[in-house]
Amino acid sequence: MQRTAFAVPAAIIAVMAFLMIGCGSDDAGTKSQASGQSDASGLTAEQLKNGIGPIRSVDLGPPDEALADAGEAIFQTKCGACHKMDARYVGPALGDVLTRRSPEFVMNMMLNPAEMVEKHPEVKALLAQFLTPMPNQNLTEEDARAVLEYLRLEGAGDDNPEAS
Ligand code: HEC
Repeated sequence: MQRTAFAVPAAIIAVMAFLMIGCGSDDAGTKSQASGQSDASGLTAEQLKNGIGPIRSVDLGPPDEALADAGEAIFQTKCGACHKMDARYVGPALGDVLTRRSPEFVMNMMLNPAEMVEKHPEVKALLAQFLTPMPNQNLTEEDARAVLEYLRLEGAGDDNPEAS
């Protein structure tokens, strides 16, 4: 009887000690995760900035009017049903998109919208607002680069040479 009475608190102490060790290793886990990944989304800092998709880096170079004209034609057939340059529509206005997103992000959104909508916290927030997931328009990388040039030259960046 005496033995049992002693054994119960000992077991409780053992459990508490175990829980405290558990908490300690949990903290360490959070720290090591923070150094490898940027936030709760599980994406890297690069993915948060550049989006998720085939485009890793875009060298904008000097403005290319001919490329922008080609991009405008693609925009009208493949994007215009949902996007305007200067007003909210089915999707957000895109005239100023390069003031809030990197060129890589914009191209990855064109080329890989399903994964962007599923995983990128900023795009998830847009979906919550616009309620329509942007469909894949099956653009080639060349098409997407041309549309990017159109957004760059005709959008808000046009009046602001310092932005490019
Ligand atoms: C059927 C409608 C639809 C079409 C077509 C469409 N989009 Fe979208 N787009 C959206 C919606 C809605 C969002 C907001 C995110 C979401 O809900 O998926 C969005 C988001 C975006 C974003 C992110 C904007 C931001 O603020 O980060 C970019 C860039 C974009 N679209 C570019 C394009 C381009 C370029 C095309 C044409 C190749 C295109 N979209 C075609 C509906 C569309």
